[in-house]
Amino acid sequence: MSILVTGGAGYIGSHTCVELLNANYDVIIVDNFDNSNEDSVARIEKIAGKSVKYYNVNLLDFDSLNHVFMQNKIEAVIHFAGLKAVGESVAKPLYYYETNIGSTLNLCKVMEAHHVYKLVFSSSATVYGMPDSVPLNETAPLRALNPYGRTKIIIEDLLRDVAASNENWCISLLRYFNPIGAHKSGLIGENPSGMPNNLMPFITQVAAGVREELSVFGTDYPTDDGTCVRDYIHVVDLALGHLKSLEKLDSFTGTQAYNLGTGQGYSVLEVISAFEQASGITIPKKMVERRPGDAPVSYADPTKAKNELGWSAKRDLLEMCEDSWRWQLSL
Ligand code: UD1
Repeated sequence: MSILVTGGAGYIGSHTCVELLNANYDVIIVDNFDNSNEDSVARIEKIAGKSVKYYNVNLLDFDSLNHVFMQNKIEAVIHFAGLKAVGESVAKPLYYYETNIGSTLNLCKVMEAHHVYKLVFSSSATVYGMPDSVPLNETAPLRALNPYGRTKIIIEDLLRDVAASNENWCISLLRYFNPIGAHKSGLIGENPSGMPNNLMPFITQVAAGVREELSVFGTDYPTDDGTCVRDYIHVVDLALGHLKSLEKLDSFTGTQAYNLGTGQGYSVLEVISAFEQASGITIPKKMVERRPGDAPVSYADPTKAKNELGWSAKRDLLEMCEDSWRWQLSL
């Protein structure tokens, strides 16, 4: 029996594949390498010392996906594949709705046809929009601030409906906070094409001299130093959360949502300072206007994941920065 990982060549997917292989699962990757490349499959294999089967398939192509299920005995699916750039989703909403929702629809249809009912879905803390209060637990209201966030909420709703229609389904909705860091080997990590949208890749590119300086978006937020606070989580901790979640799928029917975060918030300036400590490099920065749509403070209450999955994040901010930097240096 194998675990099918959609988007397995991507940033979080590749780290999860490594941990699955380390835990002796057989892994099958389905990826169209839209925002990743085939090389990362070889790197996953190198780190784990095991081979991985992979298919260059777009999830919107029902017949090809069906073929993957015909050729393999699949026990469960971890569904990472999707588009995730907020700005792009505002510019191209139809593309985002079609890709993210259409691919999940096809996946569920194919799973149902093959009687595969175990699913772990890659959701996001973005489903909480502007939080009313922190820390955020899983009962906080869901609201989207942009089309990308809306696709995550729609998919969560869709999966709740699917699960309600047939009691065989068990679906975990993992709401990630802010994944950063990389595998210790320096072989896999986040490699955004073009201008990075997220803070850590921007910092590492400035440190490497790829970009001149970092813009700090907003210094007048109601936080200790005026910059936004987020819950940064090491991508390997996040990957391990998927394994725990997979193991627990047998313990419930329907859907369960879990926050995957550390429970600890850090401001933009604190992240910069931790990175400077980890790398020994001073990051040139300028203070600029707020970025529209940014919540002042967002961090998880990870109690449910701890109690029900037996999972909690272990790696601290310094380690996240060291590992992000090692990865950037290898590029
Ligand atoms: C962003 C997305 C979120 C998505 C997540 C995926 C927005 C508004 N939110 O979350 O929907 O799920 O990425 O990883 O895009 N910052 C700077 N300078 C920069 C970049 C970021 O100061 O060059 C600040 C931001 O204002 C924010 C913090 O750093 O306060 C973290 O930003 P980012 O890494 O983009 O994550 P989120 O905004 O939390």
